[in-house]
Amino acid sequence: MSGLVLPPAGQRIYVNDVVMRDGLQNEPVFVPTEDKVALADALSLSGLHKIEVTSFTSAKAIPALRDAEAVMHQIRRVPGVTYAALVLNTRGAERALECQVDEINLVVSASETHNLANTRMTRQQSRRSLREIVKMVEGKMAVNLSVATAFGCPMEGRVAADDVLAIADEFVALGVAGISLCDTTGMANPVQIQQLCAGLPQRWPNTELTLHIHNTRGLGLANVLAGLSAGITHFDASLAGLGGCPFAPGASGNICTEDLVHMLQSMGYETGVDLARLLTCASHIPRLVGHDVPGQVLKAGPWDHRHPVPADFEETRARALARDNPSSTA
Ligand code: COA
Ligand code: ZN
Repeated sequence: MSGLVLPPAGQRIYVNDVVMRDGLQNEPVFVPTEDKVALADALSLSGLHKIEVTSFTSAKAIPALRDAEAVMHQIRRVPGVTYAALVLNTRGAERALECQVDEINLVVSASETHNLANTRMTRQQSRRSLREIVKMVEGKMAVNLSVATAFGCPMEGRVAADDVLAIADEFVALGVAGISLCDTTGMANPVQIQQLCAGLPQRWPNTELTLHIHNTRGLGLANVLAGLSAGITHFDASLAGLGGCPFAPGASGNICTEDLVHMLQSMGYETGVDLARLLTCASHIPRLVGHDVPGQVLKAGPWDHRHPVPADFEETRARALARDNPSSTA
């Protein structure tokens, strides 16, 4: 790994939250529409760059998000926040258009096996279908193209960097607004992130480049540092650390939004996010999904949170000082 040269303090780093899509798609419970809307509305006021609100996929495949239209229609959109939704086929793009989504997030996997498991299409079929969607929505909605399993496939193992770059290059040439490189099942390590991402901001200077990292093996925030050192300034994360792809064995939570914001802010970066508001949002997640969540700052509090000193502090100090000067305690 070449030296980890991080951007200077004060650099703006953009945080996108994907809990409502990547998080909830993987939960066995159906979170009621009104709770989803309340969550989106609260997240909207926390200063996030982008919120991935839902996906326009098959209700049979992703029953947890079967209320996509209702959620999109009921949320209160805050100017300056981009409201995105995941789309895998033309039908999904039509539904997104009807809901006037700001941005659709198209997904194709770099791995053939994962692409077939996730979309029932070969990569070539997906690319053809996604090309048609890009043409179909041109001038109406922004498009982000996500390359899933960009850092490894749970079934195939290593994924060739050339395969990842070929897909992304094709869609950059078609004029998409953004590219996301996704570590769908948390297989990446910091060296690999640095190697794949080095030079990409220069290769695609007019394209918003995002890293979508999962913390499946505990390397999530280390991978963010590697991304920062490669010049990446946009990161996806999921509130409370929920997340995972139902069609990728072993997939678990994204990096946790509030933990990411906490790290970035404590390093002096500008996120525009109100961490206290985000923590309040995160505190509702265990109730919504019915289980404990991986987020750590939610449990420990931010680094600058001070605990009260022990009640017997003065007495303990007096005793300790007396050991240096036994005659004064008589
Ligand atoms: N919106 C709503 N329904 C859709 C749809 C969409 N975008 N695309 C397909 N469907 C419905 C079809 O109407 C059909 O319903 P029916 O069985 O009642 O007739 C059913 O889904 C199957 O459609 P088909 O065209 O045969 O697609 P498929 O079975 O090959 O499924 C996907 C392909 C991709 C549409 C489906 O598997 C899917 O939505 N998967 C979700 C993957 C996902 O979200 N992964 C995690 C995020 S990366
Ligand atoms: Zn994901």
